[in-house]
Amino acid sequence: MEDRTFWDPETLTDMPLDKLVVYVLKLHHDYIKKTAPLLQQQLHTLANSHDQKQPKLRQIANLFDQIYGDLALHLHKEENVLFPYIIQLQAAFVGNVGISPPQFGSVRFPVRMMMQEHHVADEQFALLIDWCEPMIALPNTEVLIRETFSLLLEFFHDFCLHSHIEDTILFPRALEVENLLLEPKVDDQTESCRIK
Ligand SMILES: [Fe+2]
Ligand SMILES: [Fe+2]
Repeated sequence: MEDRTFWDPETLTDMPLDKLVVYVLKLHHDYIKKTAPLLQQQLHTLANSHDQKQPKLRQIANLFDQIYGDLALHLHKEENVLFPYIIQLQAAFVGNVGISPPQFGSVRFPVRMMMQEHHVADEQFALLIDWCEPMIALPNTEVLIRETFSLLLEFFHDFCLHSHIEDTILFPRALEVENLLLEPKVDDQTESCRIK
């Protein structure tokens, strides 16, 4: 894993939104894109070589496929819809100019969707870790399985940190800035999220 010693929650809280987006992209999105294909490959190699003795490995590989597929789509939505709008919000805020409501109505709709997807991924990861832990505890578990599961745990912890930064710093601050810029406010009850 990359060196994350420079991570400082205080600094992130004060970081301008556009820089925070770049931070999340560089540190966490890039990490997922680099690590997930490797993990996927290792999990399937293990499943293929232990098909008879340890069928749980196949279930683990299949669930990881699902998590990875959902995460890839999640990153795509953040990178192509939500984050560009957050960068636009920051530019309008700094330039002290107004902004037109986005096609999806308000930042709160994609934010709500992203937070829901974080929650679903959390639950899927929890199940995955539940399946892996008993195998790690076995004294005769082979080294490749231990190494792969250790990478899987690291991947999960990175996701927890990543979604925590988005849920508790980036998204609330984007909502705050949008509220300052957009008048009148979009009616939460009548608008629906049209993010694709
Ligand atoms: Fe993200
Ligand atoms: Fe996210």
